[in-house]
Amino acid sequence: MTEIHERLDELKELGLFRRMRLVSGPQGPRVVLDGKPVLLLCSNNYLGLADHPRVREAAADAAMRWGVGAGASRLISGTMTVHRRLEESLAMFKGTETALLFGSGYLANTGVISALGTEGTMIFSDELNHASLIDGCRLARGETFVYAHADLDHLEWGLQQSLRDGDGRRGRTRTPLIVTDSVFSMDGDVAPLEGIVELAEHYGARVIVDEAHGTGCMGPDGRGAVAEAGLEGQIDVVIGTLGKALGSYGAFAACDAQMAAYLTNTSRSFIFSTAPPPPAVAGAMAALELLFEQPRRVERLQANAAVLRDELAKEGFEVAGSTTQIVPLIVGEADVAMRVCEAALERGVFAQAIRPPTVPEGTSRLRLAVMASHTKDELREAARVMGKAALAAGWRPSAGVPIAEAQSRPSSPDASGEPQPPAPRGGIFDQQADSVARAA
Ligand SMILES: Cc1ncc(COP(=O)(O)O)c(C=O)c1O
Repeated sequence: MTEIHERLDELKELGLFRRMRLVSGPQGPRVVLDGKPVLLLCSNNYLGLADHPRVREAAADAAMRWGVGAGASRLISGTMTVHRRLEESLAMFKGTETALLFGSGYLANTGVISALGTEGTMIFSDELNHASLIDGCRLARGETFVYAHADLDHLEWGLQQSLRDGDGRRGRTRTPLIVTDSVFSMDGDVAPLEGIVELAEHYGARVIVDEAHGTGCMGPDGRGAVAEAGLEGQIDVVIGTLGKALGSYGAFAACDAQMAAYLTNTSRSFIFSTAPPPPAVAGAMAALELLFEQPRRVERLQANAAVLRDELAKEGFEVAGSTTQIVPLIVGEADVAMRVCEAALERGVFAQAIRPPTVPEGTSRLRLAVMASHTKDELREAARVMGKAALAAGWRPSAGVPIAEAQSRPSSPDASGEPQPPAPRGGIFDQQADSVARAA
C-alpha cells in the first residue's frame, strides 16, 4: 500500500475524509446540490452579491476590456488601471491611506505575516485564527506565541515574556506582531479589538487584523469590525478578502503608504504571484459600489442572522457564542457532525460539517452562514430542519459542546494564578503553530 493510500485510509477511519459536492448554478440562497434542490446555508456570499446582475456585468465587461488574466505579477508587467481603481476605493472604504491587492485572502495573510514577522520578531496569534494566519506564522522567520482564544490576559502575559531577556533567547529585538481574525471564521464571535490595540500601544507591537468575515458584514456601512470598534487608522494592516461579502475573488491589505511600499518589496505572495484577474477585480468594484449605494443589505444580513440564532435557540441549540452571520452548532465528534449534516441535507438544508483540522479536535460542528438574500421564512424553516436532523442523527443539541467550553482556555490561570502557555495539540494535522514560542 502506498503512503498516500494509507493516509487516505487513516482519514476515512477518523471520519475526516472529505469529498466535494457538485453545485449547479450560482451561490444563491437555493442551489441544486448533487442534483437535489436545497437551501444553501454555508456560503460566504453573505450579501448575495456574487450573483448580482451588476456584479456579473462588470466582470463580463472587464473581460472584454482588459482580458481575463493579468499576465504576470504587477512588479513584472505593471499595475492595470482596474487594479489601481479598486485599491483607491478599498482604501476609502477602510479609511486607510492606501490598499494593496493580493491574489486571495490566503495569499494576503501568508504574505503579510511572513513579511512583517522577520527573524527576531515575536508573533502573537489567537489560537482560533484562520489557517491562513497560522500558515503565515509558520512561514515567518520569527517565533510564534499562540494565545488562548480572545484572552487578553494571556496575550499580555506573552508580551511581557517576550520582553524578558532571561534565557538570552527571548530578548526582544524587533517590533512584536499581534495577528487576529476580527470575526472568527468558525465561531462567529468577534475579537476584543480595543483591548488588543491597547496592549499593542502599551507594548509597542504592530497589529494585523483579518477582516475576511467582518468586511461588508458589520460596522458602519459594512466597513467591518475595526470600524465598528472605532479603531480605523489604529491597525497597522487590515486584511480583507474579496471572496466573501464582496462576491468575487482576491483580497487586499489596507494600510499606510509606507507599509504598502514595504509589502510591495517584501511580501513574497505579492511579488511572486500573478496579479488578480481583471474580471474578478471589476466584479469586486461593482460589489463595493452596491455596498456604498445599498447599506441596507448589511442591516438585512444582521437581521437575518438574529432570526436564525433566535430560531435555533428555540430548537434547543446553544448559539450564544455567535454575534454575527456565522452561527456554529458545535456537535463534538466528527462522525456525529457528518450524520447531522447528511440528515439536514435529506431534509433540504445544506450546512456543511466542519471537522479537524479546520476546528480543534472534539469541536466538529455545522457552520451555518446566513446571507442577506435568505428570507426570514427560509431561516425559520432551516432551524426546524436542523432540530429534526439532530434528532434523526441521535444528537441532542443540549448535550452538545457549549461554545464557551469548545473555546476552552487551556491557559487559564493555574494554582499560582499565572496564565500558562496553552497545551500543545497533536494529531496527524497540527491545527496551530506550536503553541509556545517556536523556533522558526
Ligand atoms: C478568516 C479568513 N481569512 C482568510 C481566508 C481566506 O480568504 P480567501 O478565500 O480569499 O483565500 C478565509 C477564507 O476561508 C477566512 O475565513
